[in-house]
Parts: sequence; C-alpha cells; structure tokens
Amino acid sequence: MTRPDDHVIVLFGATGDLARRKLLPGLFHLARAGLLPEHYRIVGSAPARFALSDDAFRRHAHDAVAAFGLAEPAGDAWQAFEASLSFGAADPEAPGPLLAKVKAAEEALGGRARRLFHLAVPPAAFASVIRLLGDTRLAEDSRVIVEKPFGTDLASARALNETVHAVFDESRVFRIDHFLGKESVDNVLALRFANGLFEPIWNRDHISHVQIDVPETLGLEGRAHFYEETGAFRDMIVTHLIQVLGIVAMEPPVSLGAQRLRDEKAKVFEALCPIDPAHAVRGQYEGYRDEPGVAADSQTETFAALRLELDNWRWAGVPFHLRTGKRLAQHREMIVLGLREPPLRMFPSALPGAAERANGIVIDFADPGQVTARFLVKEPGPTMRLAPAAMAFRYEDSFRLAHGLEGYERLILDAMLGDQSLFTRSDGIERIWEVSGPLLTSPPPVQPYAPGSWGPEPAVTELAAPYHWHLPDDRG
Ligand code: BG6
Repeated sequence: MTRPDDHVIVLFGATGDLARRKLLPGLFHLARAGLLPEHYRIVGSAPARFALSDDAFRRHAHDAVAAFGLAEPAGDAWQAFEASLSFGAADPEAPGPLLAKVKAAEEALGGRARRLFHLAVPPAAFASVIRLLGDTRLAEDSRVIVEKPFGTDLASARALNETVHAVFDESRVFRIDHFLGKESVDNVLALRFANGLFEPIWNRDHISHVQIDVPETLGLEGRAHFYEETGAFRDMIVTHLIQVLGIVAMEPPVSLGAQRLRDEKAKVFEALCPIDPAHAVRGQYEGYRDEPGVAADSQTETFAALRLELDNWRWAGVPFHLRTGKRLAQHREMIVLGLREPPLRMFPSALPGAAERANGIVIDFADPGQVTARFLVKEPGPTMRLAPAAMAFRYEDSFRLAHGLEGYERLILDAMLGDQSLFTRSDGIERIWEVSGPLLTSPPPVQPYAPGSWGPEPAVTELAAPYHWHLPDDRG
C-alpha cells in the first residue's frame, strides 16, 4: 500500500463535534495503522473565540480519542501522534496565528510537505474559509476536503462551486460523503462487477424495486441548530442516500479510476427524474419542537421517504425507495434489491406476497456489513410447502476486521493520496440539487410520528406500494 507524501493537515472546526467524534480518532487510527505519511503535522484551527493552546488541543484530542477511538490514546503511538498536533486560530480578518502554525509545521517537515485542509465547519462557513485560504495563498498547491451538505439548493451549490473553483481547481477539491468510504458500500462495486452471479440480473428485467433505507434511532445529539436548518432530506438523502444510489445503479465503469467511476455516477444522476413532491413523505417526530434550540412551529423534517425514478435503459420503471429519519425503531443501513416474482402456480400453498418478501438481495452496509441472498425453499416434510431461506456473507465471519477503516479514515487517506474516486464531483452534486427542485419548492407538509416507530403511517407504506419496506429482523 502506497503511503501518502509528507503532509501538513489543517483541520478547520477542530474543536467541533465532527472532529471530536470522527476526525481526531480517525487520524489517530490511521497513524497507528502506519497509513499516515512518514512525516506529518496536524494543525487544528477554529475562530479566535474558540482558540486553544497547543497543549489544550492535545488534551482535547486525547479526550476525543479516549471517548470515540478504537485504541487507547497511550504508548509510543500516542506520543508520536500527540507531538504532531498544534493549534492556530483563524478568522477571515485575522488569520495570523494559523499562518504561523502552518509555517512552523512545514519547516519542521523540511519544507516539502503537501497541505491538506479539512473544512469540518458549519456549511455557512465554507465560503469564508475557502476565501481565507485563497487570500492567504495557503491554497496554492494544496488540496481541500469540504464537508456536507454542499449547498442547500441548486443556486447555492452553484455559488459555492464558483467560490471553491476561484481558489481550487476541481482536481484539488474533495467533497466528502463518508458513506462512500464505508467498506460495504464499496463492496457493492466488487459484488456487482467482479462476479458472474449478480450483474447479469442487476437490471429492470429481473429487479422490480430497490430500497435504500437508513433509519436511525439517534435524535439530534445536541445539533439542533444545524439540524433545524438542514433537515433529513438535505442531511441524509441528498448527501448520503442518493450517492449510494449512484453506486447501486451505475453502469460498469471502464476502470475504477476517479474520472471513469465518477462519470458513470454522473450519468445516473443525469437520468434521475425530477422528484415529484407527491412521491415524498416528510415526517417530524413528536416532541421535536420541544427540543432545546428547535422552533416551536418548526417545519423541519426529521424523516424523509421518497420514490425516485431513473429514466434509462437499465432502470426505467423500477422504483427506488429511499427512507431515513431520526428516532425511528431501529438503526439500519440497508440496500434491498427486490427480484421480480416468478410464477408460483405450481406451489399451491404459497402465501400471497411470499415471493416478494423472500426474493431479493439484501446488503446491510452498517459496519462490518453483510450480504444476503433471500429465496424460497421447500420446507422439509411430506408436502410441497415453501419457506423463506437465506445465504449470507458476513464480513466479520470471513475476514480479520482489524485492518478495516471507518468511512472517514478511508476517505482522508484517499485525499492525501490524491484519489478522488470516492468523492463527489461538482456536476453530480449540482444535478442532484436540480432534480430536488420541485420538492424543495413545494414540500409536502410534515406529518407527526411517534418516536420509536417507522415514521408517519400510512403515508410511508403507501409510498412503497405495491411493494413493502423490507426490514428483516435477522439482519438479513
Ligand atoms: C451524518 C449526518 O452525515 O451521518 C447525521 O449528519 C447521521 O445526521 C450520520 O446521523 C450517520 O452516519 P453514521 O455513519 O454515523 O451512521
């Protein structure tokens, strides 16, 4: 495995939630696994009002790794990692402390290191940080990771792309979607394109419907301000679920190189039909408006379910059902491909709908991940009675998972290596906002749902009709 060139990594939003939960623990995991560059420095940054001393930042990182990391922040590995950390505050009109720390870090690495900026800041701050990087010339020859959501509609995404491109050309922009770094999402590419078993049936002739389903049990987790302005559609559907759809629905790329892979995903997004508000359900869990930081009359959706259609040769007429929401009954990350029902006339006792429930391929992409083929078999006994059965591949049974990387870790490593394959491109993201236009302009009203339920009924069930939401209890 190639190790990245020496790097100075600058983490904007270093005192924030994402850095604490994912980025600092992830960077330490990469360091322990020997996947960070041989020589690196990590400079934390935030506006001056959140400034930390280097020591305080090291303690902050220690606590983050202790709380959310896979390995204890101790021993030689921790000492080496800790020694790489420093902190430099930056505001648009006062970038001095950051500049000084970046310069010191570069000097410590002999002046030859690459720069990678990670913008783990609220979306409203993306543009000002990008401008700061341009004005201070820190951007020169550097790469930038931009967090989501990238814009809130087509106009804002275009404006943000313009701001970014004024400072970084597209080859240096890494719009991150951590779902695309998940092992089991990437495994969809292997499953489809490395086997003779799946790809021949991966089309409208054999597949009747597709579900991409990410219910969460989590609530707001202290993010009311972000969530009120974002909602489930922008936070999860545009950002993560439609990206997963891109991987599930794409044509085989000629290679896995960034351009080919992203070209194929872009074609999927081109083929997406504009989202019909009549094919969307927006929900809000009961009690959401009482959460601290939430408006008493909030119309923000904490649940979104959609029916999407692709107008292309592979998928015309196959509904793609997407669903996600907060405070639902279970936390799952599933892709379900429902196979067309075979004629069951020769099995007189078959229950109506048995074939729909049993015929399918289920990809559970929550780490560590599982792929299950579901089918009907003959129940043992004197009569020809059918019963559901499954063949399952479980990552944890088949591989040592110690080498597995969490989505963010994999993607930060790819960004250091300059590999954009699993990052979203400007044309793709703009197209997704474009097809979202009708829904954003005329959103259906939010419908209440009980926490711990599956969202607003009967609307959600009706949306998937004549199919059903698959959620097998056996994780298959
Ligand atoms: C984030 C969303 O991008 O993804 C969160 O902002 C969501 O609202 C999270 O909970 C889910 O990702 P994961 O990988 O932690 O399940």
